[in-house]
Amino acid sequence: MAILDIIQPDNPILRKKAVKVTSFDSKFQTLVDDMVETMIAAPGVGLAAPQVAVSQRLIVVRLPNDEDSRKEYGKEAGQLHVFANPKIIKASKEMVEGVEACLSIPGYYGEVDRHEMVVVTGQDRKGEPIRIKAKGWLARVFQHEIDHLDGQLFTDIANSVWKAGDDEEDDEMD
Ligand code: CO
Repeated sequence: MAILDIIQPDNPILRKKAVKVTSFDSKFQTLVDDMVETMIAAPGVGLAAPQVAVSQRLIVVRLPNDEDSRKEYGKEAGQLHVFANPKIIKASKEMVEGVEACLSIPGYYGEVDRHEMVVVTGQDRKGEPIRIKAKGWLARVFQHEIDHLDGQLFTDIANSVWKAGDDEEDDEMD
């Protein structure tokens, strides 16, 4: 396994529409493992393949597993989600505003409106169909990561963006 370099917005790969994953071969398995390791080391709660310069539709998501997170997220704390070709098939009308950050835009935060609940379908690392109903912060992370696959960054859609230190509301995401 290896920790991969996370690219910054000056790299055009981050702005490209990523292509569908069609091969679940050993090279893909290594990519999944490396992305998980990179996300955890960062640390972040989500990572999309374009962030490590691989323009494929693959995301990994994992909420923290500390004591507070276990209280707040229950069994979702520390649960790893690997989604190839993720697609939001259902989204709540209810939107919630929350603070986001991104490993590709270090030091910046923003208030972003997201659906409170989303249902996401996709494929697991072996190519088998999977589906998740995500709420709250988990739903937010999925929406943020899926946006990366279409070249969209949270700063594109944020209601406001600020630099770390400009506000007390610093939070970390991915
Ligand atoms: Co991001």
